[in-house]
Amino acid sequence: MALDIEKIKSDLTEDLKAALSLEALEAVRIKYLGKKGMLQDIYAGLATASIEEKKLIGKSANEIKLLAETLISAQKETLGAQQKSGDAIDVTIPGARYSLGTKHLINQTVEEICDVFECLGFVIQRGPEIESEFHNFSALNIPLDHPSRDSFDTFYLDQEDPDAKGRYLLLRSHTSPGQVRVMKQFKPPMAVIIPGKVYRPDAVDASHSFMFHQIEGLLVDKQVSFADLKGLLTAFCKQYFGEDVKMRFRPHFFPFTEPSAEVDIQSNIFKGRAGKWLEILGCGMVHPKVFESAGYPRGEYSGLAFGMGVERIAMLKHGIGDIRTFVENDTRFLKQF
Ligand code: DAH
Repeated sequence: MALDIEKIKSDLTEDLKAALSLEALEAVRIKYLGKKGMLQDIYAGLATASIEEKKLIGKSANEIKLLAETLISAQKETLGAQQKSGDAIDVTIPGARYSLGTKHLINQTVEEICDVFECLGFVIQRGPEIESEFHNFSALNIPLDHPSRDSFDTFYLDQEDPDAKGRYLLLRSHTSPGQVRVMKQFKPPMAVIIPGKVYRPDAVDASHSFMFHQIEGLLVDKQVSFADLKGLLTAFCKQYFGEDVKMRFRPHFFPFTEPSAEVDIQSNIFKGRAGKWLEILGCGMVHPKVFESAGYPRGEYSGLAFGMGVERIAMLKHGIGDIRTFVENDTRFLKQF
């Protein structure tokens, strides 16, 4: 019994080439290694062979067995991997969509408001969120016993002010300290707008948050009057809320302006609030004490100042009922704007 080992090897290689599925490969395995396969036939033939033949054929048979096992298992791995990656590609599945985010409504509102003032000649300045008691209160003529200084109304840091022994740093509770910082840095005439975050330890509800945004305005020159303040804020309200906006300046008290007022408006754009006066900002003429804090010579300058809450304005303009929606990161809310 002669065994043409080279022929068997080339047959096996051909068979494997043609076996392009796991089923076809299994058929090849059965053909060569199965119970009724080629190798079993060879072993069966050995029974009648001479000892010399047995040695020769046995050696060749083992060689074939090893080769078949190695090639078949390698092919099996390749086909398995192909099938797996083939399964993962479902060409009918819609492609992955990457949605581009949008600017947050608060940032949009800050930009829109600043744009109006920039068109009127104001420049944007920023102040620090961690402030000294001096800039947040004293420099603004807010007395030591004023309730807003209380730790119930202001977040104090556990860090002493390096410039004032025994006084602690705090998170600014309004953007007004920016007024003093800007005045210390520049000489009039100046017209600046200071947007930014402010912090107050308020209990959070639909209209209060421990962090919100304000925009501060300050104009200082030689002969600034309350008429300038009215004219400026009227121009802003008409531009921002529409020509038909109605305004009223209601007398109020702020320690850092004298006289001071709050501005209320009525506008058709406020859904469901028609005919209601809504407070949108505080304003007034810069108090002489504030000029003094900035180191300006007495009686030399006059100025106007105002401050508004961004969340409140965005809520009025877009009919939003709950301030918490701004920070909840619910994209169903955010992507509406
Ligand atoms: N800082 C005030 C607040 O947080 C708002 C304000 C009122 C700012 C009057 C001003 C101003 O500049 O003149 O309630």
